[in-house]
Amino acid sequence: MSNVHLVDHPLVQHKLTLMRRKDASTNSFRRLLNEISMLMAYEVTRDMPMQDIEVETPLETMQAKVIDGKKLVLVSILRAGTGILDGMLTVVPGARVGHIGLYRDPKTLTAVEYYFKMPGEMENRDVIVVDPMLATGNSAVAAVERLKELNPKSIKFVCLLTCPEGVATMQMAHPDVPIYTAAIDRELNSHGYILPGLGDAGDRIFGTK
Ligand code: URA
Repeated sequence: MSNVHLVDHPLVQHKLTLMRRKDASTNSFRRLLNEISMLMAYEVTRDMPMQDIEVETPLETMQAKVIDGKKLVLVSILRAGTGILDGMLTVVPGARVGHIGLYRDPKTLTAVEYYFKMPGEMENRDVIVVDPMLATGNSAVAAVERLKELNPKSIKFVCLLTCPEGVATMQMAHPDVPIYTAAIDRELNSHGYILPGLGDAGDRIFGTK
């Protein structure tokens, strides 16, 4: 699991525990996901390229570092990815945004694409793909496969929760793509849900159950 970054910061772990509770309201689930996503953004952007610009302080002129947020593309896997996207955009407001619409065929659990919209010049951009649950791994693998057709400079994957099956599937297909997650849970059940997990992330974010 060399390519897996477990974000085990106490703030992230505390908020994740609150999100797992089945009686957490939609409001608090969404707010907590938003907060965790900001903290995950901090980790996943740690090695982002920087450049020096000239800045005038009240006292003198200096060279100071900035990131080029426009080079970064946050790609949300619809619909649950939106929950992570919002938090990340709060801390990297200059990022471009792409969307991939994938649904899980309930019988085969494979990913079927219904939407794909990315910014231009992807070959000059670093991509962070976001989806709260890396479960079977099928959606993540399909999304990254599709993105690789556009030849971006780099791709990272951020989720809230995963399981050994999801990590293995992703690493088998895309060993070059690092995975950032707040937890690796015990297992996947026969319906493709993570155990103990937190249920259906999309339903819990949007209150659709
Ligand atoms: N998607 C979810 O929303 N939850 C799971 O446990 C697995 C996939």
